[in-house]
Amino acid sequence: MNTPGGFGQYISVPAGWVIPLPAGLTLKESMMIGTSGLTAAIGAEKIMKQHIIPESGDVLVTGATGAVGSFAAALLSHLGFRVIAATGKHVQAVFLKKIGAAVVIGRNEVTDIPKKPLLSSRWIAVLDTVGGEMLDAVIRQTAHNGVVACCGNVTGNDFSTSVLPFILRGISLKGIDSGIAAMNDRVRIWNRLATDWKPASINHLYRDVNLDDLPVEIERMLRGEQVGKVLVNLVDG
Ligand SMILES: NC(=O)c1ccc[n+]([C@@H]2O[C@H](COP(=O)([O-])OP(=O)(O)OC[C@H]3O[C@@H](n4cnc5c(N)ncnc54)[C@H](OP(=O)(O)O)[C@@H]3O)[C@@H](O)[C@H]2O)c1
Repeated sequence: MNTPGGFGQYISVPAGWVIPLPAGLTLKESMMIGTSGLTAAIGAEKIMKQHIIPESGDVLVTGATGAVGSFAAALLSHLGFRVIAATGKHVQAVFLKKIGAAVVIGRNEVTDIPKKPLLSSRWIAVLDTVGGEMLDAVIRQTAHNGVVACCGNVTGNDFSTSVLPFILRGISLKGIDSGIAAMNDRVRIWNRLATDWKPASINHLYRDVNLDDLPVEIERMLRGEQVGKVLVNLVDG
């Protein structure tokens, strides 16, 4: 799937790539969720498939103000988990609490840690959108039999770790690739996103902009100041 389609009202793609709009979702809501919401939902499902339930412990979301991170925080909170949101944007703590985070911490509080292979357990599961040093740090602070679901490479492709979190704590590392998720998995997850997995805070997760606003929004994105999702209105702009 290497087909450009951004900022257009129509795109021609093979029929096998698309699914019908599920009952319970408007077209606008489907874009409010989008690929980032699907990615977050696949990650949440991978965590829960490892028998992690809200009573198991806290769940950390990294890159929490990002498109994937904010949806993950909202969805996991909606599903009853106590969400710790790690962010570099302290000023967005109010936003993160509004979408469901129970606790907001600075991303440095996750990564500024001793160089030991295992540290005190702080969470039972993680949805990591950042990768790199962050991924290494979260693995070393995950509790016994915990799960780290990894989807992103914001800070780079490489990370190093030791085998100890895996052989002494039984941690599972789960990769997420929404781009090639099996069609039956996509249909199942989209149907849940249209119903019981539609976060109560969905209307707080995005902002509407018009095509004319794109240069400003892209600059904001490049400065690392974007929050949540930006929905481009192609009809009224
Ligand atoms: N595997 C998949 O299927 C899949 C699907 C979609 C996206 N992705 C990947 O997932 C990642 C997140 O996507 P997104 O759409 O959420 O991106 P995004 O909206 O740009 O969010 C990324 C977030 O990462 C955090 N961040 C930025 N610079 C950082 C740094 N230097 N150190 C630590 N954190 C930093 C920021 O959150 P805070 O300021 O809150 O920390 C930022 O909002 C990307 O790497 C993207 O390519 C993967």
